[in-house]
Amino acid sequence: MTRNNVSAEWWKQAVVYQVYPRSFYDANGDGLGDIKGVTAHMDYLHALGINAIWLSPFYPSPLADGGYDVADYRNVDPRLGTLEDFDEMAAAAHAVGIKVIVDIVPNHTSTEHPWFKEALAAGPGSPERDRYVFRPGRGEHGELPPNGWKSTFGGPAWEPVGDGEWYLHLFAVEQADLNWKNADVHEDFKQTLRFWSDRGADGFRIDVAHALAKDLESRPLADWPDDPDQGEPGDENPLWDRPEVHEIYREWRQVFNEYEPARFAVAEAWVVPEHQWMYASPDELGQVFNFQLSNAGWFADEFRLAIEKGLAAAEQSGSTTTWVLSNHDMPRHPTRYGLPQVRSAVHHQLVTDWLLRDGKTYYEDRDLGTRRARAALLMELGLPGSVYLYQGEELGLFEVADIPWGALEDPEAAMTSHGDAIKGRDGCRVPLPWRAMDESGDFGFSAPVDHAPAHLPQPEWFAQYAVDVEETERDSMLKFYRRALAARTELLTATGDTSLTWAAGYDDQVIAYERPIADGRVLTSVTNFGAAPVALPAGEVLLASAPLADGGLPADATAWVAR
Ligand code: GLC
Repeated sequence: MTRNNVSAEWWKQAVVYQVYPRSFYDANGDGLGDIKGVTAHMDYLHALGINAIWLSPFYPSPLADGGYDVADYRNVDPRLGTLEDFDEMAAAAHAVGIKVIVDIVPNHTSTEHPWFKEALAAGPGSPERDRYVFRPGRGEHGELPPNGWKSTFGGPAWEPVGDGEWYLHLFAVEQADLNWKNADVHEDFKQTLRFWSDRGADGFRIDVAHALAKDLESRPLADWPDDPDQGEPGDENPLWDRPEVHEIYREWRQVFNEYEPARFAVAEAWVVPEHQWMYASPDELGQVFNFQLSNAGWFADEFRLAIEKGLAAAEQSGSTTTWVLSNHDMPRHPTRYGLPQVRSAVHHQLVTDWLLRDGKTYYEDRDLGTRRARAALLMELGLPGSVYLYQGEELGLFEVADIPWGALEDPEAAMTSHGDAIKGRDGCRVPLPWRAMDESGDFGFSAPVDHAPAHLPQPEWFAQYAVDVEETERDSMLKFYRRALAARTELLTATGDTSLTWAAGYDDQVIAYERPIADGRVLTSVTNFGAAPVALPAGEVLLASAPLADGGLPADATAWVAR
């Protein structure tokens, strides 16, 4: 068998495309995307030039949190297909050289999971309850929560079950936190990792990987502050990024290494940059998301710092880093870059407010957002490490800000709608537009002519960004993604060289770095965050995110020059 680009460490320089299955393509017409819908578009994904797909959860789930509330870890939600559909999808992916990464959600199960039902039935003190984090309530009859901890989505993190005990849920009330001190939990997740590995999964994305180890014993629960800071690492934080969490991943590494090639995983760990590398180390998961890039506002210094920290973390871990501009949890980046730019510390708040007011408070400059998104992509693709793309970014989609409250699905919206409201994450999860002209009214999202409405409403402006429209435009976002991804693979990935040198001689409004490329030349990537054009180095311009101006590279653009 010839192995094209299939080294055991393929994931170290991969371009991974995140599929949010419910919103990718609906093959059976129920208004929800499905596994067959992914298989049907494997050619599209292959032509895009990616190396792997990561599928957000497609397991049986009441969908209280978009599938991150799993009721059965080793099955497919009947609305999304069957295990056979998964096998076919994986085979179709592998046939065109695309790897498959599945999502593992180990911090919590759905309250519909059989274990949780057993825990409720078995009562206080039982081994069944010990798989979760149950504690007696305070007050005479346990009518008060064990302490004041808040859920990430708003509201209390404890829920009473009617017999004096309460269970912990760091997320939605339908997501009960597991107790990782319990041996059953360890065994079951190892079984799940083997199950999907045996079925052709090449890797795993680990959901809230920094939350599994918890310390509820070292002091009375009621003594903890109500809002343990998520970012605060180490022994002092009872919930997040505790040192013992790494023991779990060292155990998993043994499982990954049972396979040939060894499976890898990427951690979703919202921890301080200095702690990222531990999750990625070779005796643990392999990679960790570096969200610094997605947090950066459109400022050269914020991007530079994000790149420096990512590279430093990779060096420390002995692995490679990851670059992310968008995913299913954050507003799409062309929107972020088209809104007024404020420093990253407050930018999140600005975008949240804008969403809350249906996109009406600030002017969203879509041309500017698009231009910067193109510049950001080229800058990102030139970096060493893996790039994680989110479905629809190749079409240049913006955040859908005006989904009516009644149509929102995100528990964040429901749990915060009274008082401190936020609109949540549905605006980036709207079903993809495949065809601009589609009489059945869902931009070709559902295959059958007669179908249920798409599970989230699509805005009219999706017509301009539909796949079939972008196929016909010479310089659409889709075409630009294909060109840039092909260039990355051919020039950069092919070398296996991960070195990067900052290019000298530019002012602080410019990010310029150099990389060796496959034909023996050196590539300089130059991004201009300033207003005035910047002179490019002599050489061949391989790609530019915008037409070059007389004086060189215009504002908000990136060019790759080889010499
Ligand atoms: C992760 C997921 C997010 C989910 C949460 C709880 O952050 O990316 O979508 O809501 O975990 O599982």
